Amino acid sequence: MAERTEVVFVDGVRTPFGRAGEKGQYWNTRADDLIVKAMIGLLERNPKVPGDRIDEVAIAATTQQGDQGLTLGRTAAILAGLPLSVPGYALDRMCAGAMTTVSTIAGAISMGMYDLGIAGGVEHMGRHPMGLDADPNPRFIAEKLVSPDALNMGITAERLHDRFPQLTKERADRFGMRSQQKVAAAYAAGKIQPDLVPVAIRSESGWGLATTDEGLRPETTMEGLAGLKTPFRPHGRVTAGNASPLTDGATVSLLASADTAAELGLGVKMRMVSFAFAGVAPEVMGIGPIPSTEKALKKAGLSITDIGLFELNEAFAVQVLSFLDHFGIDDDAPNVNPWGGAIAIGHPLASSGVRLMIQLARQFEEHPEVRFGLTAMCVGLGQGGTIIWENPHYTGAK
Ligand SMILES: CC(C)(COP(=O)(O)OP(=O)(O)OC[C@H]1O[C@@H](n2cnc3c(N)ncnc32)[C@H](O)[C@@H]1OP(=O)(O)O)[C@@H](O)C(=O)NCCC(=O)NCCS
Repeated sequence: MAERTEVVFVDGVRTPFGRAGEKGQYWNTRADDLIVKAMIGLLERNPKVPGDRIDEVAIAATTQQGDQGLTLGRTAAILAGLPLSVPGYALDRMCAGAMTTVSTIAGAISMGMYDLGIAGGVEHMGRHPMGLDADPNPRFIAEKLVSPDALNMGITAERLHDRFPQLTKERADRFGMRSQQKVAAAYAAGKIQPDLVPVAIRSESGWGLATTDEGLRPETTMEGLAGLKTPFRPHGRVTAGNASPLTDGATVSLLASADTAAELGLGVKMRMVSFAFAGVAPEVMGIGPIPSTEKALKKAGLSITDIGLFELNEAFAVQVLSFLDHFGIDDDAPNVNPWGGAIAIGHPLASSGVRLMIQLARQFEEHPEVRFGLTAMCVGLGQGGTIIWENPHYTGAK
């Protein structure tokens, strides 16, 4: 078999994330404008990239309707000012949409078909509420192919608490609180802001600029969390404090073959090592990243102890805890989501995968002693996705 072409992550940016709904900062902003804004930000920050050398633009969204429909990759490429010769498409794997655009573009680069590609995602959960107009085949329920619970993500998280009683509400709440605290600390240290593309927004009070993630709750306490409602089940354990909130936002990344990056003088933030997706029972979809990580590690010839940094999507605290317990990692391990995660920042479904990569890439710069890092996330209807990355700044020092 021919050698693989090496795939590198050149850069990634995102919009600040907004709270979904009428009071959110993006209520009057179109979903496609969010992804276009992020793409323009990415291209402006990488002026050495000739637009006509981009071989593909792949943009994910879970709900592909209205301002989030119409083959987003193509429409966003035109609206962002790329030459009309650049093709594009839209893709859906629910929460792992952007992660799948990255793995798909990477596959084409790896085969030598593409030199440069743009991969990302958008979800405006305010304008496109989860599951709106979905029409699941009645056979799913009638033939007991999946439990009715499997279609409500919050209930799947309650099911994980049932399955793993050691994953208590107290542990989930503490993880949620820590996420808020870590994001606040990362903001205070100026670590998140460099990769945010400000977005002009319109509200009743006129024009403004979105510059930060809107849903942060740095004042979170365990006492405050203990009193929150459990919307998915009476006396349940999943609350607004240990779940990712409904969010609007877009992310985008630039991938290249290592040779093209060198030819154009582009920086390399991460090298792709392996990726994998895996399926699990839909009613416990949150454990999906466990088998996808095992597959990706196997493909890479690595073990979990080779991974020095983890960026795990916090769809729900319990679901991240199930991953950590499985691999014998502490709830509070300093190399897991060091700058917090989706519980605080938000989780605009199809865009979140690239946010994980943006943060991991920055952490690689700060940690030249770490060689490998991992981005992973769970996916509705029972899937997980994992991409393993190598740190180009690795010095081998301990
Ligand atoms: C959990 C969920 C239902 C909560 O929705 P919501 O009720 O609209 O959320 P809110 O932000 O209004 O929070 C609810 C309450 O908790 C409070 N709250 C939320 N986070 C808090 C925190 N960290 N500390 C203290 N209070 C908090 C809010 O202030 C609010 O209080 P109020 O009712 O007195 O106004 C919603 O965020 C959700 O569905 N999340 C999961 C999304 C999902 O499934 N994604 C896909 C994953 S696969």
